[in-house]
Amino acid sequence: MGRPVLELKGVSKDRGELRVLRGVDLVVSEGEVLVIRGRSGSGKSTLLRICAMLDDAFEGELRFMGRRRADRLRLIGYVPQSIDLIETLTLRENIELPLRLAGVKDDGRPEKMADELEIGHLLDRFPAQVSGGEAQRAAIARALVKRPKMIVADEPTSNLDERLEEMVLLRMAELAREGGSAAIVSATSEPAAPGLAVRVMKDGVLL
Ligand SMILES: Nc1ncnc2c1ncn2[C@@H]1O[C@H](COP(=O)(O)OP(=O)(O)OP(=O)(O)O)[C@@H](O)[C@H]1O
Ligand SMILES: [Mg+2]
Repeated sequence: MGRPVLELKGVSKDRGELRVLRGVDLVVSEGEVLVIRGRSGSGKSTLLRICAMLDDAFEGELRFMGRRRADRLRLIGYVPQSIDLIETLTLRENIELPLRLAGVKDDGRPEKMADELEIGHLLDRFPAQVSGGEAQRAAIARALVKRPKMIVADEPTSNLDERLEEMVLLRMAELAREGGSAAIVSATSEPAAPGLAVRVMKDGVLL
């Protein structure tokens, strides 16, 4: 396994009276996909937002590439639990957006990602004109196009059938290996793809 990309030590978080994360230790390294499995309400989304460096209101320590801060827009791809495509942009425009924001030239990667995720034929449609699973795959493509060092995806396969879930997870694992990047993915049930590291979250504790 490669160098650590993200390291969490003793991460805890309260939401009002409730302690939703309790001393979470976690390491994801280059080339690795970590699946965090747990019931609804166990704390997965809370943990993933911290991993994606979108929430710094927690106790404990976080290091990304050995540092406390990161160029988040460039290095971290985040897929939120609720699909958040921009309704007034086509799927193609949604997927290209991170490259535009970063001022990176489009090298045909948005089309390639879309083809791989089997939504290449839908690129000129608006989000309201595609199914939930197709929109979800567009959100995944959008997070992957900028080749982030780490992708954090919150239940990215919840609207997909088993074949597509396996395909998406295996493709993420391949991209992680090829690009020396890392991925953290949450799920409520056992992932359909074989050979991934799985850790179980239970009432805010990562087992
Ligand atoms: N904004 C909030 N304010 C207060 N409590 C919250 C808030 N967001 C989440 N919680 C609580 O924190 C706990 C963990 O929520 P979280 O969203 O992390 O769970 P989850 O594992 O992602 O669940 P799901 O599988 O349903 O998405 C739950 O008890 C939830 O009710
Ligand atoms: Mg959640």
